Amino acid sequence: MGRPPMRHAPFAGQVVWITGASSGIGEALARAATEAGAQVVLSGRRAGELTRVAASCAGRLEPFVLPLDLTRPQDFAPAAAAVQTRFGSIDVLVNNAGVGQRALAQETLPAVERAIMEVNYFGAIGLTKAVLPILLAQRSGSIVAISSVMGYIGTPRRAAYAASKHALHGWFDSLRSEIGPQGVHVCLVCPGYVRTALSHHALTAEGTAHARLDRGQARGIAPERVATAVLHAVARRRDEIHVGGPELWAVRLKRHAPRLWHWLLRRAVRSGRI
Ligand SMILES: NC(=O)c1ccc[n+]([C@@H]2O[C@H](COP(=O)([O-])OP(=O)(O)OC[C@H]3O[C@@H](n4cnc5c(N)ncnc54)[C@H](OP(=O)(O)O)[C@@H]3O)[C@@H](O)[C@H]2O)c1
Repeated sequence: MGRPPMRHAPFAGQVVWITGASSGIGEALARAATEAGAQVVLSGRRAGELTRVAASCAGRLEPFVLPLDLTRPQDFAPAAAAVQTRFGSIDVLVNNAGVGQRALAQETLPAVERAIMEVNYFGAIGLTKAVLPILLAQRSGSIVAISSVMGYIGTPRRAAYAASKHALHGWFDSLRSEIGPQGVHVCLVCPGYVRTALSHHALTAEGTAHARLDRGQARGIAPERVATAVLHAVARRRDEIHVGGPELWAVRLKRHAPRLWHWLLRRAVRSGRI
């Protein structure tokens, strides 16, 4: 027997596909979107974790678990076709999957830099290109890219990660300018620190997992706040949103007072605060 209908379901009838749905922000978004009435599609590599997240989603519609490794571009078009065949449409794609970095630029192996770009940038744009023909044919829908404050600034031990997030801005801003007139919405989401396992999964210089929850991550906002902000941004067709704690000022400071920002950053690095 199906679950009872929801009283407030702003995403009723919409198919929302979330990458990186097996933990953190993607997991919170899966629950929030299901609660908002959406038919969610959950992707990530760990099928077991996706099944756990699906079971935790309390909505009217059962989530569809679709394991997908973003380093396998040959799987993108078949995955998009599988979602369209099953539900008839795709309304929202959230490119949320990502991998962090905790290693000095000079020491990071090129293979690790490429691995970060492969998931964070090429995975997001590749899957978007696989889904785009469906959205353009519908003349509706939203594509979301989960970037970061690091899409605007660079800080120690995150060079490749920051580069991958900066790259998302160039690509998705350009895409928005190309497809906006055709009814498809593009939204960049820039969170500050969020309390997730990102630093646990982050890659070291050699490509092993950092395997630690670091200070900034532990102090971050709850992933549920990002999930709510993403759904608001999609509903209001916002081009870009920033969500997080006090660290968000860094973006403004770098834009409006870059010399002060660089001075403060150097001072913070010298004192070991970051
Ligand atoms: N936490 C923060 O402070 C923060 C701040 C700003 C932006 N963000 C961004 O938010 C997004 C979500 O991160 P999170 O904080 O929720 O961290 P997380 O808990 O580590 O989640 C990362 C997700 O990415 C998926 N993923 C990693 N490699 C993948 C691959 N090759 N193919 C498919 N999926 C892959 C993981 O799933 P599998 O392991 O199952 O594949 C996991 O579900 C990322 O883009 C991150 O850069 C996070």
